[in-house]
Amino acid sequence: MSSRYFDVYAEWQRDPEGFWAKAAADIDWFKSWDKLFDENAGVYGQWFAGAQCNTCYNAVDRHVVYGRADQPALIYDSAMTGTKQTYTYAELKQEVVALASVLKNMGVRKGDRVIIYMPMIPQAVFAMLACARLGAIHSVVFGGFAARELATRIDDAKPDVIVSASCGLEPGRVVAYKPLLDGAIEMAHHEVKRCLIVQRPQLGCELIEGRDLDYADQLARERAAGANVDCVPVAATDPLYILYTSGTTGQPKGVVRDNGGHMVMLKWSMQNEFGISPGEVFWAASDVGWVVGHSYIVYAPLLHGCTTVLFEGKPVGTPDAGTFWRVIEEHDVVALFTAPTAFRAIRKDDPDGEFIARHDLSRFRTLFLAGERADPDTIKWAERQLDRPVIDHWWQTETGAPISQNPIGLGQLPVKYGSPCVPMPGFDVQVLDDAGHEVPNGTLGNVVIKLPLPPGCLPTLWNADERFYNTYLAEFPGYYKTADAGIIDEDGYLFIMARTDDIINVAGHRLSTGGMEEVLAEHPDVAECAVIGIADDMKGQLPLGFVVLNGKVAREFELIEREIVQLVRERIGPVAALKTIVSIKRLPKTRSGKILRATMQKIADREDWKMPATIDDPIILEEITIALKERGLG
Ligand code: COA
Ligand code: AMP
Repeated sequence: MSSRYFDVYAEWQRDPEGFWAKAAADIDWFKSWDKLFDENAGVYGQWFAGAQCNTCYNAVDRHVVYGRADQPALIYDSAMTGTKQTYTYAELKQEVVALASVLKNMGVRKGDRVIIYMPMIPQAVFAMLACARLGAIHSVVFGGFAARELATRIDDAKPDVIVSASCGLEPGRVVAYKPLLDGAIEMAHHEVKRCLIVQRPQLGCELIEGRDLDYADQLARERAAGANVDCVPVAATDPLYILYTSGTTGQPKGVVRDNGGHMVMLKWSMQNEFGISPGEVFWAASDVGWVVGHSYIVYAPLLHGCTTVLFEGKPVGTPDAGTFWRVIEEHDVVALFTAPTAFRAIRKDDPDGEFIARHDLSRFRTLFLAGERADPDTIKWAERQLDRPVIDHWWQTETGAPISQNPIGLGQLPVKYGSPCVPMPGFDVQVLDDAGHEVPNGTLGNVVIKLPLPPGCLPTLWNADERFYNTYLAEFPGYYKTADAGIIDEDGYLFIMARTDDIINVAGHRLSTGGMEEVLAEHPDVAECAVIGIADDMKGQLPLGFVVLNGKVAREFELIEREIVQLVRERIGPVAALKTIVSIKRLPKTRSGKILRATMQKIADREDWKMPATIDDPIILEEITIALKERGLG
């Protein structure tokens, strides 16, 4: 069957507003829009201006009204505890209404921010939807971030209320959340008034009198009282959530997501991009703390009337490399979305696919990979083992949905390994040189998107229009800068090669090397430092730190390295995965003082490199090569 992609993309190009108006018919609006796209609103314009809606209504209530009350909405499967729990749409609504009532009693109102700092338990999803119901703005903070990262987000989002849990579960270790939460609240300048805490049986915690409330107690009270909270109408352009993502400094960027455009884009993507029908079971094996979790664990599948799977565990070791196949078989999953790292981990433990052969995967149709570059080797291995399409797709926290992919819902296009395929409707993707000129096909350059961005993409950064403009729009006027470098080939296929900023991608987790450098510089023995991302077979990239020690330091370096690694775990969190620090005498710099990180990375990755013409002292690169060799690197 030939793909409808080219016709659909051309339809969008001919009449973008007509295209999105048609897609918007799949959403229930309390009031229709005055202007489909208001180019004078916001920083670069806003979608569905004047419309009123509620995301929770569209994700939950309307399915209860229109015949899906008894269909499973959410399946919680914890490979960590062996728990499996299914919530129908009617049950999901009960949970969300009761929690919305609790939050309302705690003072949460439309427009208020609520931070959700939780492990992968159903209450995290209920909390997101309860905020949406009240028109409050949630900000989910990934559980692998430490207290200081949480504190930074508290100070930026200024929530009165935080929803959290007593602990998270990592293989071989229980992560006590409460000390991190208390530490963050203590550290933050903004005062958090109330916390609602889920007590997990694996590790309870003390509640602070007058501030903390017990989730289960509060919910039971509201349920007994038969509490009802209607969905609060919000403007389509009002924020649904803020999701902080790494920027070029330790100060994360608060990506804002609106209500209306977000619903339209996600609902459209489920059928047309992912090829999923309402009623089917969709599983994104990510974490609610990341954008993939927001879009494809919670909002898109629920908006589409699917059953979504919330999985607590890892692709390997919980208990083995067969876990994903067990979940797919047991819950009739038709499509799995995960990061390539997960597949590299599975392949390492089960190279011949023996676990795969043990499971009935007859309902399973498609594997989607995103979050980092999918290496052709991994894709080919997955294709061979599964004998099904493996779809690489490229997007960012900022866009909330795929920018490019093989549009399996519209009909699959030929696969080119190493390419996340073609741009999706809404995205006019171009490659420009540093001066802003379009480059010929096949030439590497800055990947940009012509403005306006489509519905669902970030309209701005939280309370930071100017930072938004300067970060994304200023460098290439009329375009959004993705900060990815790539190529468009003669068939219009995209190849995303690397970031153009200091962001690295570790196991599908987006991290700022600049943020890590700020932590390294805090260590009293460190005079200067640099952090780069080096290639890693399993995690795609790993951070590697370089430090120049203060002249007077006489302690053993091993000890200092351990302290620095620990400092990064404490400040940023274990997810930063910084394990190695190399001590060097000097940092290589240009004559104007810029650290030559790209050259250091090439040396560490044993790639060909040229002596930069602007280098201050070429000998330093030799010193670095020797220092790396001494550590078994480079
Ligand atoms: N709470 C607390 N700690 C967490 C955490 C969380 N939610 N998530 C990860 N961590 C910790 C891990 O325990 C680990 O700690 P350690 O250094 O003490 O071992 C550290 O952060 C690094 O975690 P991770 O990068 O996930 O590595 P891992 O070795 O635990 O697991 C994989 C390796 C491949 C199994 C894992 O990286 C994986 O599943 N990757 C898929 C990534 C993904 O889903 N990305 C989302 C984008 S789609
Ligand atoms: P995040 O905001 O965490 O989703 O990370 C976005 C970044 O991850 C992008 O800017 C890319 O650098 C990288 N990325 C995501 N998906 C892909 C992909 N399919 N191929 C290559 N890089 C990707």
